[in-house]
Amino acid sequence: DKGGYRHFMAKEIAEQPAVLGDVLSHYIKGDRIVLPDGMDFSEVDRITLVACGTAYLAGYVAKYWFEKLAGLPCDLDVASEFRYREPPLSEKSWGIFVSQSGETADTLAALHYARGKVAKTVGVVNVGTSAIARDTDTALPTMAGVEVCVASSKAFTCQLAVLAVLALKAAQDRGMLDDAALARHLADLRGIPALVNQALSTADDCEKLAEWLSESADVLFLGRGPLYPVALEGALKLKELSYIHAEGYASGELKHGPIALIDQNMPVVVVAPRDELFEKTVSNMQEVMARHGQVLLVSDAAGIEEAGDGIHAPLTMPTGGGLFQPIVYAVPMQYLAYFTAVAKGTDVDQPRNLAKSVTVE
Ligand code: M6R
Repeated sequence: DKGGYRHFMAKEIAEQPAVLGDVLSHYIKGDRIVLPDGMDFSEVDRITLVACGTAYLAGYVAKYWFEKLAGLPCDLDVASEFRYREPPLSEKSWGIFVSQSGETADTLAALHYARGKVAKTVGVVNVGTSAIARDTDTALPTMAGVEVCVASSKAFTCQLAVLAVLALKAAQDRGMLDDAALARHLADLRGIPALVNQALSTADDCEKLAEWLSESADVLFLGRGPLYPVALEGALKLKELSYIHAEGYASGELKHGPIALIDQNMPVVVVAPRDELFEKTVSNMQEVMARHGQVLLVSDAAGIEEAGDGIHAPLTMPTGGGLFQPIVYAVPMQYLAYFTAVAKGTDVDQPRNLAKSVTVE
């Protein structure tokens, strides 16, 4: 049932404030993080995150969080590479396997490889009865509810919510945060559903911008820090849904190659809240604009103001969220791809050649 929406994708995007509220109140009670027994990171020396597609990009954001908040070294790999590379794994490390379906063949094989080599395997899964949920030592439900659209939206942001809780728990167990800092981060995280709700109101602007994107052959997405994987997710969503070629790059990599592509026909989506790295992003945007590239800046009001003239299209996001902003900034990535697909008339909920659950490698 599409609940009055034109596509499951639109419904699932709109459900995010509610499901994020559910999952966060499941794992955070007042000022306490509540996880199953044995989820103590004090002795863990390393995290290995393994997944595919959008779930991999959730892991990519989490790598920034684990490293920054908990000072915990974090390896990240796509499951199809990890499983055959025979990576050495520390017996004090934990493997975290992220999957909406819990049935992805490569992720499951990666889990089976890691079992017995690491101290603990953890599943971050949406389908509680799945193989990955069964075969991990601890399975943490992401509680997004059934996701019908092949392209993942609410499952992604709920994966991020669970991974954020894990990173905070790791920081707490490892003595990296005092009580006040932990309380501040928890308050930021609890505030995310309301910010995501505000971000839903970017839909109208995204719909207008999609008219422009739908005429383009290629789109570049740029981001820095934990927003870099969000840029990658924006590119992946646009490819999947609209069949437009899109690539995500770390903003700082621009001059190491992709800048050669920039001309007046290349929309460049810059995903950049006004943070301590923003100044660097402004100079990246100037490099794009000097080559007549057209910048779509996704930022908060302060960022849009600071970026100044020359931005082709500003998309204003709510302010706040602290380190957990990637969850909020996922929303316009979803809407830009969704409305571009609608403008192009592609099959939004069932894009060509894709399956919801990839159970063969
Ligand atoms: O079920 P999983 O989360 O393991 O699936 C992983 C990928 O196949 C999945 O995220 C894919 O990239 C989606 N089509 C993304 O929209």
